[in-house]
Amino acid sequence: MYIVAVANSKGGCGKTTVATHIAAHFAGRNFRTGLADLDRQQSARGWLGRRPESLPAIRAVDLDVEDGRLPKGIDRLVVDCPAAMAKATVKDVVQQADVIVVPVLPSTFDEDGTVRFLKQLMKLKPVRKNRREVAFVANRVRARTRAADRLEGFLTELSFPVAARLRDTQQYANAVADGLSLFETGGARAQGHREEWLPLFDLLERWA
Ligand SMILES: Nc1ncnc2c1ncn2[C@@H]1O[C@H](COP(=O)(O)OP(=O)(O)OP(=O)(O)O)[C@@H](O)[C@H]1O
Ligand SMILES: [Mg+2]
Repeated sequence: MYIVAVANSKGGCGKTTVATHIAAHFAGRNFRTGLADLDRQQSARGWLGRRPESLPAIRAVDLDVEDGRLPKGIDRLVVDCPAAMAKATVKDVVQQADVIVVPVLPSTFDEDGTVRFLKQLMKLKPVRKNRREVAFVANRVRARTRAADRLEGFLTELSFPVAARLRDTQQYANAVADGLSLFETGGARAQGHREEWLPLFDLLERWA
């Protein structure tokens, strides 16, 4: 099973948005896809509950109940992590994940939070030993702003690739409200936003 954990101890950086979109992409490519929600807020679980049955199925996976055992019959598992790394289940899952996707917003508070998160991440042996892949997603980026430039500078100082740059758009909030992703809604208007995900998806296939 290929496991992708979406994590950053900084709150509100887009973990659930990114996790639900990766899961929708995998399901759309006919992988038997699971989505585990480790956050008490259960936003990803709520999104699954709203997801129309006509769309490619994504199975809700409860890793707490499964007690560390990975579910059977799933090719790809996406894990939406909470804005904290303290919980043992979160550390366990992040250690087991093949890829850790880290969304970051263009703000100094988020950059500082991400530095703290990366320090926690490096305490995990498989990550430290380079046995896990890590990629950033620059999220809610507004082109040609000082904040966007600063974020680029910040991310290039770090040792992991920036796999995608996602622009700020209300289309995400509107899609997830209906249990959808931008790959399943938004029509032609969303096309430019969909294309922003392609480098991340290419990287995830290369690492699979
Ligand atoms: N690219 C984007 N453009 C516009 N809004 C976005 C984008 N990405 C995320 N958002 C919005 O930002 C808010 C936070 O996103 P999200 O819930 O995915 O973050 P999170 O990291 O999971 O938060 P938490 O730490 O609370 O779990 C949501 O309202 C979401 O719709
Ligand atoms: Mg979340």
